[in-house]
Amino acid sequence: MMSGVWVFGYGSLIWRPDIAFRERRIARVRGWKRRFWQGSHDHRGVPHAPGRVVTLVPDPDESCEGMAYLVDDSVAEATFEGLDHREKNGYERHAVRLEFRTGGACDGVVYIAPAGNRAWLGPAPEDAMVEQIRRSVGPSGANIEYLRELGAALRELAIDDPHVFTLERMALEAEGRG
Ligand code: SIN
Repeated sequence: MMSGVWVFGYGSLIWRPDIAFRERRIARVRGWKRRFWQGSHDHRGVPHAPGRVVTLVPDPDESCEGMAYLVDDSVAEATFEGLDHREKNGYERHAVRLEFRTGGACDGVVYIAPAGNRAWLGPAPEDAMVEQIRRSVGPSGANIEYLRELGAALRELAIDDPHVFTLERMALEAEGRG
């Protein structure tokens, strides 16, 4: 049997994994919540005007659903090299336990940007986060597109996330106001 490594994505890795995988499954990690608390200097913003992207924040009462990808051992090293580069702005690899929606569980790897990393922004009032997301642009595109893509991907997978959906709704309302 071929073996492999499960990589868990909860942000852009859900809708744009850009990695070779053998299989993917919706999975949940317990004790973590998804938050737009990480600054992005290299994808959705620039160093003097960072955007906001998601990281996982520890919370014993919460859990986060996303997409897990099974990467073959034969390509794991190259895959992690690529992901380390993509997630270089403050994210670190963590070992996590993944619970698959279809049943069963497995150990996996997730990229988390911990509090206090050099690009960390932390919490802010929702309207301030929305404004920052609406005005930020970086080499990977507009920050608002990241929020829209994430919201759309979560809906597609029937994943509920009030934090993401609230920011998305507020951004849409702000757009309506011009
Ligand atoms: C992830 O998607 O798992 C990490 C955060 C991101 O790249 O948006």
